[in-house]
Amino acid sequence: MLADPGYPCNQNFVRFVDGEIQAIAVDDSSSYQLTAQLIEQNWQENTKAVIIASPANPTGTIVPAQEMTKIIHLVKEKNAYLIVDEIYQGLVYDIKSSCALTGIDELDEHIIIVNSFSKYFQMTGWRLGWCLVPEHLLQACDHLSQNLFLAAPTYCPKSGNVCFFTGNH
Ligand SMILES: Cc1ncc(COP(=O)(O)O)c(C=O)c1O
Repeated sequence: MLADPGYPCNQNFVRFVDGEIQAIAVDDSSSYQLTAQLIEQNWQENTKAVIIASPANPTGTIVPAQEMTKIIHLVKEKNAYLIVDEIYQGLVYDIKSSCALTGIDELDEHIIIVNSFSKYFQMTGWRLGWCLVPEHLLQACDHLSQNLFLAAPTYCPKSGNVCFFTGNH
């Protein structure tokens, strides 16, 4: 389950693993984000995971800390996964931002946190990032990384410029 509008690639990642996309139309009443209430209302028997980007692309909105905690509890109660894309963390200026880690005491077996060097570290194009995953998913992630990409993209000097080979996009 994910918010619509949202970062389009996230829908493609779901397709890539033969998942079924449940795109929930969101509007300004929830700052274009999923809320615990929306998730609960739209939950289906086969819902496996909720994807949230906070701050989001394209809207730039965040899920407030209190709401994030509610969402975490709900997803845990449903024995599903919460995948939080925090690629824009640290790029919030006028309000107190929250991240998934502020909603939990310790890394939890239901939470996957995705981040990248692209935005905060201004390394767009390197396609380098990281995931915080529960221990029981380590092997699955290892298999994915072995088959989706072999290493960080290699840059090569070309006519005095630097060009980048994008590995996984
Ligand atoms: C919300 C969100 N997640 C993930 C990405 C992917 O970032 P990258 O592949 O550059 O690490 C982007 C890029 O714009 C994004 O906006």
